Amino acid sequence: MTGERPPYLPGDRAAQDDTARMIRVDQAGEYGATRIYAGQLAVIRRGRAAGAIREMAEQEQRHLAQFDRLVCERRVRPTALSPLWQVAGYALGAATALMGERAAMACTVAVEEVIDGHYAHQAERLGGGDPELAQTIHAARADELAHRDTALAHEAAEAPGYELLSAAIKTGARLAIWLSERI
Ligand SMILES: [Fe+2]
Ligand SMILES: [Fe+2]
Repeated sequence: MTGERPPYLPGDRAAQDDTARMIRVDQAGEYGATRIYAGQLAVIRRGRAAGAIREMAEQEQRHLAQFDRLVCERRVRPTALSPLWQVAGYALGAATALMGERAAMACTVAVEEVIDGHYAHQAERLGGGDPELAQTIHAARADELAHRDTALAHEAAEAPGYELLSAAIKTGARLAIWLSERI
C-alpha cells in the first residue's frame, strides 16, 4: 500500500503523479459502477427497485463522464484493467440481482461505503490542492452517499446473509481500487 509521502506544492512531480493515479482509479471505479448497475438492470427490469437503480445508474454515467473528461484533458493513462471491470462489474451486478432486490441493494451499500471512504481519503490527500479534481470528487461522493441511503431504504440490510455478502463485496471493491491505482 502507499506509504506516507511528504506534503507537496502545486505543480511538482509527485503531485502530478499522485493526481494522475487518483483520476485513473476514479474513472475505473465509476466505470465499474455503471457496469454493476447494467448487470442489475439486466435482471431487475421493472418495479420500484428498477426505477431506483436506473436513477443511480444515470448518476454513475455522469460521474464517469466527468472523470473521462479529466483523463482526456490531463492526458492520464487510463487503467489497463477496464476489460476486467467491464466483466466483473456486470457479473457482480447480475449475480446480486439474481439473489433478489435486497441483495442487489446490499451490493450498492457495500460498494458505496468503500467508495465513500476512498473519496474521503483522496479529498484529504488533496487538501487545498487541485480544486477542479477536489470538486469533482466532492460532488460524486455526495451522490454515492445518497445511493447508499437509497439502497438502505430499499431494505438492503434485510438481504439474506447481509453481513457476509457485504464483507465479500467490500473486499472485492478494495482490491479493485488497489489494482486500478497501479495497473
Ligand atoms: Fe459514482
Ligand atoms: Fe454510486
